[in-house]
Amino acid sequence: MPKIIAVVNQKGGVGKTTTTLNLATAFSTIGKKILVIDFDPQGNATTGLGITDKKKIIGSYETLIGEIRFDEGYQKTSIPNLFLMPASLHLSGAEIELVGLKDREKLLAKALEGIRTFDFIFIDCPPSLGLLTLNALVAADEVLIPLQCEFYALEGLSQILFTIAQVRKNLNPRLDLQGIILTMFDIRSNLCMQVANDVRTHLKDKVYETQIPRNVRLAEAPSFGKPAVVYDFKCLGSQAYLQLAKEILDREGKLAA
Ligand SMILES: Nc1ncnc2c1ncn2[C@@H]1O[C@H](COP(=O)(O)OP(=O)(O)OP(=O)(O)O)[C@@H](O)[C@H]1O
Ligand SMILES: [Mg+2]
Repeated sequence: MPKIIAVVNQKGGVGKTTTTLNLATAFSTIGKKILVIDFDPQGNATTGLGITDKKKIIGSYETLIGEIRFDEGYQKTSIPNLFLMPASLHLSGAEIELVGLKDREKLLAKALEGIRTFDFIFIDCPPSLGLLTLNALVAADEVLIPLQCEFYALEGLSQILFTIAQVRKNLNPRLDLQGIILTMFDIRSNLCMQVANDVRTHLKDKVYETQIPRNVRLAEAPSFGKPAVVYDFKCLGSQAYLQLAKEILDREGKLAA
């Protein structure tokens, strides 16, 4: 069975998509078969993997509502072992459309039921704790939270942790917090260091040791339709994501043992 990982933070622009794409690619290079589900109507993960013409796309929305079969909703990418279920334009209406449906928070879980084709499925969530993110949390085994070390980060974090606890209690007892990733880290910023210390003090080993530095190559890569770890393997940002992938796999290994 695949391990399903939701990448979640209701705050915008904290590095969810960058983290999803680079981790997914790092995992794929060690021979794991990976699916990225673009579950954000902005479609950044789709663009970041080189798909720019979104008019004819079918993907996560159509799979979610059961209009197509799971295996019709994804496609190959230019990276071996890495597959993408893109975000089609229709996903932007989903939050409103789904409200009237029965079991509306379980649709993605149902669509992924019994799937054995992948080792890991990453779900890139939109910047909200709405119905799409809720569907991702109900379908997932684990949550990854990218966190940018800024003043409001802790406030936002307690909201996500509360939501995860609620989902675990009411909808998905399997759900586990895999970990928190400090992103866009700037060691020259006192505020950044202070917030990082606070987060580490409160959440201890739930925070990965690897920190993702602020790195311009990470920001440039999507415009070339490639994850940074492919676009510039050697840059500090890519190296940090490769290190993080290793740390996550080690943690998975310990959990399984
Ligand atoms: N470590 C980093 N260093 C520099 N730029 C980064 C870094 N991580 C992400 N970025 C850039 O910051 C912006 C936001 O990152 P990203 O799109 O990954 O965040 P997000 O949480 O997915 O945003 P949204 O909430 O809008 O989906 C992007 O332009 C991205 O290229
Ligand atoms: Mg995003």
